Amino acid sequence: MNVKPILRVGTLLATLTVLLFAAEDTPEKTHKLTTISPRKFADSLHAVIAADREAYARLIVERLAFDEKRLPVSPNWRAERCLPTHAQLLRHAATTIQQRGAEFSYTLRSLWPINESHGPQTAVEKAGLEFVAKNGGTNFYTEETLGGRSYFTAIYPDRATLPSCATCHNQQPTSPRRDFKPGDVMGGLVIRVPLEF
Ligand code: HEC
Repeated sequence: MNVKPILRVGTLLATLTVLLFAAEDTPEKTHKLTTISPRKFADSLHAVIAADREAYARLIVERLAFDEKRLPVSPNWRAERCLPTHAQLLRHAATTIQQRGAEFSYTLRSLWPINESHGPQTAVEKAGLEFVAKNGGTNFYTEETLGGRSYFTAIYPDRATLPSCATCHNQQPTSPRRDFKPGDVMGGLVIRVPLEF
């Protein structure tokens, strides 16, 4: 009888047993608790909102309203059976998420709003919108107290990334500005994350 292979199998089994027990003995790997900074949180929300807005602009509005000219965009979309504006879509989603209990909030603002209610509503919004308009691609981050609660407030420049942004805004009867060009900062997306719960 050849003993060597049996020994080898025996050694292997012993090693495996040791390894298995060793694995069982090792305390469960504790997951590191990483806290995300309010800035990273706001940046991530912005990335999602910006991607959704771009999808609506490119896949729906550009195609149906401009390329195929089948369905125009109108703020009175329901009565006129049109597509809602990108801003209405954003407001709808922002309100829905608030109703579902989200602590953060977001809104579109501009120093040249078509819709009056999109003008700056706080000193921080005004300062942030002026900052992003002057500094092109730079975001604006600060802290702000509203209703006795402190917030991390981020303002992201909203640029005319498509030619239709400028064309459509320049044509709107209530637009206070009619010289927007592709690439211009047209306003900002304001995101607020509470710093106390
Ligand atoms: C087809 C027309 C149209 C296009 C295209 C369009 N917008 Fe608008 N936008 C509007 C209208 C109308 C409003 C206000 C609507 C409302 O609040 O109901 C608005 C609102 C805004 C606001 C909030 C301030 C305001 O004017 O009320 C910003 C900022 C803005 N748009 C930026 C952009 C950018 C950037 C693009 C391109 C990526 C773009 N828009 C494309 C029609 C358009």
